Amino acid sequence: MTWPPPSRCAVFTPPGGRAMWLAAALFFGLLRVPAATQAQEKTEAKAEAKTEAKTYVGSEVCQACHEEVFKNFQKNPHRSVETGSRAEWKGNACESCHGPGSKHAEAAEAAEIRNPAKLPAAQSEAVCLACHSNKPPRVQSSHAKNEVACVTCHTMHKSQEELVRRAPAAVNQQCAGCHTSVSAQFRKPYHHRLAENAMSCVDCHNPHGSFLAASQRTVFASEPACVQCHADKRGPFVFEHAPVRLEGCAGCHQPHGSSNPRMLARPQVRTLCLECHANIGVTTAQPTTTLGGIPPAFHDLRSPRYQNCTICHVKIHGSNVSRALLR
Ligand code: HEC
Ligand code: HEC
Ligand code: HEC
Ligand code: HEC
Ligand code: HEC
Ligand code: HEC
Ligand code: HEC
Ligand code: HEC
Ligand code: HEC
Ligand code: HEC
Repeated sequence: MTWPPPSRCAVFTPPGGRAMWLAAALFFGLLRVPAATQAQEKTEAKAEAKTEAKTYVGSEVCQACHEEVFKNFQKNPHRSVETGSRAEWKGNACESCHGPGSKHAEAAEAAEIRNPAKLPAAQSEAVCLACHSNKPPRVQSSHAKNEVACVTCHTMHKSQEELVRRAPAAVNQQCAGCHTSVSAQFRKPYHHRLAENAMSCVDCHNPHGSFLAASQRTVFASEPACVQCHADKRGPFVFEHAPVRLEGCAGCHQPHGSSNPRMLARPQVRTLCLECHANIGVTTAQPTTTLGGIPPAFHDLRSPRYQNCTICHVKIHGSNVSRALLR
């Protein structure tokens, strides 16, 4: 084709300006290229439609061949996606996860239908997140990062109990399946009574991720779940003990279990304190700024009286009356 096209020239022919010609050429050029691609896309789409198009057929069609699954599904909370007054998948619940099923219903071949359990983790998760996108930390969880998909923990068509485990015994069993060494720590002499199923991993962790380290479950104002049960440790206190907030409870405790009383990280309270307060009892000839630097001054660590720090510093998690956490 010659350019510019004669029919349109008349309209745009300016009284002799070459620049205007150029502008007009560009204008049509821009218009014409996308038009061409669009047409091409349409033909491709049509060709595809002939061989590939899958449409939604409705849950009742699935029922014909998957009676058992269909029957169980009537009790599944996901049924609400097709029955609720504002349901977006009226009559099509099965296909909300499995995708349009016309081809599969015709051919009855597994390859023609999407099974989230057989997809790579990221794609499988995308199926669920299409609706369950309301909890952003989920995407940041180390389970997601390590390709543990939703359907690893949530089984869809067996029972409510397997769809979402709530009973501590069932949760612990599931988590222990992969986290064997953590699970074993709860058998140490001092432990939370998890092995006894009095509580579960999800009392402290959010399996979907959280904004705290190690996916710790958050309560109140993004505080670790510990303070929900140990409310007296929550504060705020007039006199905080800095590490409680800064390092977290696990700075001094081993919440999975410990060989030390009070699940402390060290066998003796003293050694734990002195890891940070080493300047308290040093017996050097130099005067120090802290109390008891020189014996027989105040904190004389050679004296048994001073070795058990928490005999005096009883409010070790924070105090409202004593800066030195004495009461
Ligand atoms: C005409 C009978 C028939 C109909 C209708 C039918 N299916 Fe199936 N479906 C089958 C058969 C047969 C298999 C097992 C294929 C195999 O094991 O190779 C199957 C397997 C499946 C699987 C497992 C695929 C896999 O990779 O493991 C899913 C999911 C599924 N069907 C979903 C559906 C949904 C959703 C519908 C409704 C849209 C539906 N089916 C309608 C016959 C049917
Ligand atoms: C919320 C998502 C979701 C919905 C809704 C759903 N499924 Fe599934 N389906 C799955 C997942 C995930 C699997 C993989 C196995 C599992 O987790 O139980 C699956 C597996 C299957 C299978 C393979 C056999 C099996 O049990 O593993 C069939 C058949 C099936 N679904 C049919 C259906 C039918 C029929 C409906 C509607 C009545 C339906 N599904 C609704 C998510 C869904
Ligand atoms: C089409 C939207 C949709 C999709 C896709 C979807 N869900 Fe759901 N899911 C829902 C709705 C709606 C509920 C019910 C919420 C309620 O009752 O509060 C629900 C509830 C749940 C529950 C909680 C059940 C309970 O008893 O508390 C789990 C677990 C769940 N879905 C997992 C999944 C998984 C895993 C996938 C991906 C395989 C998935 N969902 C895909 C909409 C969806
Ligand atoms: C490591 C196992 C695990 C993975 C992976 C997992 N979940 Fe869960 N999910 C659970 C457990 C356990 C519960 C019950 C939590 C409770 O009772 O506090 C739960 C609860 C739920 C609930 C019920 C509402 C709630 O928060 O209590 C929904 C919905 C849900 N999960 C969806 C998902 C989706 C979507 C994914 C993937 C993005 C996913 N889950 C990945 C273990 C998991
Ligand atoms: C299918 C295996 C599997 C199951 C089941 C599983 N996890 Fe995990 N989990 C992993 C993997 C893989 C990682 C990442 C590597 C690691 O930190 O060990 C992980 C990491 C974690 C982390 C560390 C998070 C971080 O950010 O450092 C916590 C906490 C956790 N899982 C808790 C749980 C809880 C609670 C359950 C039970 C509801 C559970 N896991 C079930 C595989 C699993
Ligand atoms: C009493 C609360 C509590 C319980 C119950 C608990 N955890 Fe933890 N877990 C924590 C805390 C706090 C951390 C962070 C430790 C740190 O920062 O050093 C952690 C860290 C982890 C980590 C990452 C670091 C590591 O030790 O590998 C994993 C994985 C983990 N927990 C899995 C589990 C599993 C699985 C269960 C159940 C068998 C469980 N936790 C029960 C509080 C708990
Ligand atoms: C679901 C409630 C709950 C949560 C969450 C919880 N605990 Fe506990 N904790 C308990 C109970 C109950 C005991 C008493 C244990 C027993 O002997 O049965 C206990 C005991 C302890 C003890 C030992 C007390 C003693 O007198 O020996 C310490 C230390 C402790 N918890 C720290 C933590 C830390 C740190 C966290 C968070 C990482 C945490 N707990 C989360 C319920 C909880
Ligand atoms: C600076 C170290 C340190 C930090 C951080 C710390 N604790 Fe403690 N905790 C201790 C010591 C030391 C004891 C033992 C006190 C004693 O000897 O009587 C103790 C005892 C406990 C006890 C059992 C005795 C009691 O007072 O009830 C619980 C429960 C407890 N801590 C929970 C927590 C929780 C929850 C956190 C986080 C909010 C936390 N601790 C943070 C050092 C710490
Ligand atoms: C992880 C480090 C760490 C551990 C372990 C620790 N502390 Fe502290 N402690 C601090 C920090 C940091 C401060 C704040 C110091 C400041 O404000 O100058 C502090 C403050 C104090 C104070 C108040 C000092 C003042 O006058 O403000 C006392 C008392 C105290 N700690 C006692 C203890 C005892 C007893 C233990 C052992 C049970 C202990 N600490 C364990 C880090 C630690
Ligand atoms: C016999 C009681 C007693 C014992 C045991 C004791 N302290 Fe103290 N501690 C005190 C008193 C009293 C103060 C000063 C309070 C004040 O200044 O108002 C103090 C002050 C402190 C301070 C604050 C120092 C500063 O610079 O302000 C720290 C830190 C401290 N003690 C840590 C320890 C550690 C660590 C141990 C164990 C090795 C310990 N204490 C054992 C009674 C004790």
